[in-house]
Amino acid sequence: MSRYAFLILPSHNRVYADAAPSMARAELAVLAAALPDATLDTGSVTEAVIGGVPYVTFEAGELSQRDADLLANLSALYALFEVRGDLPRPLLQPVPLCRLDRYDDDLLTILKYAGKTNEQFTKLLLNVTLASSAFVSEVGTRRLAVLDPLCGRGTTLNQALMYGFDAYGADVDARDIEAYAVFIQRWLKDKRLKHQASFSPVRRDRRVVAKRLTAEFAASKDEYKAGDVQHLDVIEADTSRVGEFFRKESADLVVADLPYGVQHGSHAGGQAGGRSGGGDRPRSLTRSPLDLLRTAAPAWAKALRPGGALGISWNTHVARREDAADALSAAGLEVLDAPAYLGFRHRVDQAISRDILIARKRAA
Ligand SMILES: C[S@@+](CC[C@H](N)C(=O)[O-])C[C@H]1O[C@@H](n2cnc3c(N)ncnc32)[C@H](O)[C@@H]1O
Repeated sequence: MSRYAFLILPSHNRVYADAAPSMARAELAVLAAALPDATLDTGSVTEAVIGGVPYVTFEAGELSQRDADLLANLSALYALFEVRGDLPRPLLQPVPLCRLDRYDDDLLTILKYAGKTNEQFTKLLLNVTLASSAFVSEVGTRRLAVLDPLCGRGTTLNQALMYGFDAYGADVDARDIEAYAVFIQRWLKDKRLKHQASFSPVRRDRRVVAKRLTAEFAASKDEYKAGDVQHLDVIEADTSRVGEFFRKESADLVVADLPYGVQHGSHAGGQAGGRSGGGDRPRSLTRSPLDLLRTAAPAWAKALRPGGALGISWNTHVARREDAADALSAAGLEVLDAPAYLGFRHRVDQAISRDILIARKRAA
């Protein structure tokens, strides 16, 4: 067994405050189970202060490059070291990391708005969902597809694109989809990425039934020429209609941050103090988050490939974990409730205590 330590991103503490260490440990525990080569002893995960700076430390068999590359994407991780020698003054040997990130960070950070789900939390939710699916080992060998059926202004979509995945989204709020369409088309132009994009009405029987944003692009000209492109496909429509626009079993992962069911001041939305209340505007009060989940989960489950995983976050003040889990089970999904999945609950603000649920669609 070797000992490793990772340096936590400074912003992690701002996002989660007191819950920062437990969130880092919980994400590590779920990703540990998906390591391709080494075995990580989750019981050994702890915090240590080295040279006056907090680290998360753990014991694992010798990490292969594939293992390190998976851990490199941990949402809280800044740098990873192998620990040689003893505390309080060990030697830290850097482990070379190759993150999935394909684009500049500003893809995730430029857009700031009330109701934005914090981007670091979004990355955590996507990571945990991916690690819980049957497809984590296929990253890099085929292009995965992520559906956010409550996509707002695209925080999950952008994180999926950042990883090189295809991104599908739906949101009922025309202002959100409009703002995201403007942003992403501007961003593709500013970055001089070869692309095609359109934002236009979808018509059926001469009636407009939705608006659709589509884009195709690649990180390099050569990839674009070779047709090795990422797809973005976003619908302005009620989430229960995703089946009308996205093929059955077309998403490897479904990731959504549910409306929080509380009216939210503008400063709570991921800007002030870096904390995110995630999104809610008064219209979302028309339906409780749990009702929304019960109504929409069957359509989300249909869009998911067998072996795929669904990850949601929600406000536990407005819906109990068991009720949210029942809604996912009723949609035919298998809710994951091993201890590793129970460590994500954290306080966002007075009105919001956020948690995560992951469920899997049984492989065919
Ligand atoms: C917590 S916010 C998600 C924010 C998003 N992750 C972001 O960072 O922009 C929940 C989203 O659910 C959307 N929503 C609520 N009810 C919906 C419905 N019935 N169909 C589609 N979207 C809905 C809201 O418009 C809101 O954008």
